[in-house]
Amino acid sequence: MKHYLQFTDLTADEYAYLFSRAALIKHKFKSYEKHHPLVDRTLAMIFEKASTRTRVSFEAGMYQLGGSVVHLTTGDSQLGRSEPIEDSAKVISRMVDLVMIRTYGQDKINSFATNSRVPVINGLTNEFHPCQILADLFTFIEQRGQVNHPLQCLQGKVVAWVGDGNNMANTWLQAADLLGFTVHVSTPSGYEIDPAVAGLSSHNCFKVFKDPMQACQGADLVTTDVWTSMGYEAENEARKQAFADWCVDTDMMDVAKPDALFMHCLPAHRGEEVTAEVIDGPQSVVWDEAENRMHVQKALMEYLLLGRQ
Ligand code: CP
Ligand code: NVA
Repeated sequence: MKHYLQFTDLTADEYAYLFSRAALIKHKFKSYEKHHPLVDRTLAMIFEKASTRTRVSFEAGMYQLGGSVVHLTTGDSQLGRSEPIEDSAKVISRMVDLVMIRTYGQDKINSFATNSRVPVINGLTNEFHPCQILADLFTFIEQRGQVNHPLQCLQGKVVAWVGDGNNMANTWLQAADLLGFTVHVSTPSGYEIDPAVAGLSSHNCFKVFKDPMQACQGADLVTTDVWTSMGYEAENEARKQAFADWCVDTDMMDVAKPDALFMHCLPAHRGEEVTAEVIDGPQSVVWDEAENRMHVQKALMEYLLLGRQ
């Protein structure tokens, strides 16, 4: 049994399969062709933090695969009344085939997985957001690569990360380490990445830049995220001041490669981490990126339950 708790839980070879499979599943969806490999299977989705994309993409995706879903939040389940995570895992995993969790610490999802009889998927923790990077890479491959050799177009590419050293940044580092590209990271001081969290095999997969303009120089992809992640709302005002120079604007896009893409996992705050001109501009692929969450997660759920098809 496989869990998907962080990006490193799958190999490069498994990613190559998943990207090809996601392309096929997306094609079927666009052609109104039925694809029901998960009939009679149930996904439990547990949300301890808010969500739009993760909820809709997993829920719609599971129904499209022929399965069904159960939606739980902290407020409407015993999770909010301190039932131990281990007990919740033992009970929930006797009744469903697959579990997706969005929570705070990675330790919590790890404990759930340890006590689960079924595969567990990370739908975002404070440390990682692997499903989002899965979608981001698939979006890059769609734009720049070939479905038959999906990983090839990533080799040697530069991804500029502008902003917080957060769950998205950590997951980009893991992906770069595994799939052979480089992340140029620029964060305000006090909000740096911690490579130990990502658990990298080497530090060759990233370079740190004080100046976000330098991080964007020659990049194939420029990407950012909210200044304040969920769970850190108390730091909002301090972060607004610290991050003021880390707004992705046309000056940053202009020093990147002429065909550089812009991505953002969303939700976005125009005028904070990105200007409206950039996110709504011609280099932005944020809507494909959001839609692709559903296609890659359908491939992931099918793979975790049924293996290669
Ligand atoms: N990108 C993402 O995970 O969005 P939601 O918070 O809306 O799920
Ligand atoms: N880093 C953000 C991503 C939201 C999808 C957060 O954790 O809130």
